[in-house]
Amino acid sequence: MTVPFSNSSTTADLKRLKQLLGDSLDKAGVKIPGQSRLLNLACGRADESAVLADVFGKKGLQLTGLDIRAREINEAQERWKKYLPENAEAEFLVQDCSKLGEINTLPDDFHIAFMRHQNFWNGDTTWSKIYDAALHRLDDDGLLVITSYFDREHELALDAIQKLGAQLVLTEHNTQSRRIHDVPPGVVKSVDRHVAIFKKP
Ligand SMILES: C[S@@+](CC[C@H](N)C(=O)[O-])C[C@H]1O[C@@H](n2cnc3c(N)ncnc32)[C@H](O)[C@@H]1O
Repeated sequence: MTVPFSNSSTTADLKRLKQLLGDSLDKAGVKIPGQSRLLNLACGRADESAVLADVFGKKGLQLTGLDIRAREINEAQERWKKYLPENAEAEFLVQDCSKLGEINTLPDDFHIAFMRHQNFWNGDTTWSKIYDAALHRLDDDGLLVITSYFDREHELALDAIQKLGAQLVLTEHNTQSRRIHDVPPGVVKSVDRHVAIFKKP
């Protein structure tokens, strides 16, 4: 499915993300059910929704995207009601993911919890709480998949998630990721710079 993003960098980033996720799942040797329920944490505009449908929903995807910002969620809702593949369904909800454990309208048997450009630096306690609640929303074979912009932030999230009892299945540095220059000198940031896959405890 081609989504007409006006920005060609976004389109290229998404192509690389699809490759990265596909290769990482193959390498990890983990099984994805043909029809998946996926929870996209702090999804923002959820640019990656069609990629998630391609990678995780070969026979269908039920996608639930959550973010605290209404503007991004509205944008996601508008875009993806038009552009998702036919066998994928999506809902985007304004929610504070730090209260994920308290949202009783969501199922607790997701196959995948996904977080693109995880935000551990923006409050380690909050994000540990979010990962903990996300792990509890997975079914027994469920996977938590994250990507990160920064090396150190990725390492911190890996540590924190393993301390919650999750098993790290794979972590990969994406050598093809596009560098972003909106950071202080000496800091390296790039799109989907790292990916990691965890099994639930
Ligand atoms: C680094 S951005 C990543 C957004 C998106 N996943 C991406 O790759 O573009 C972090 C996102 O976390 C969201 N966020 C921050 N705190 C949150 C919370 N407590 N609950 C839900 N979303 C939150 C922000 O609104 C923002 O969209």
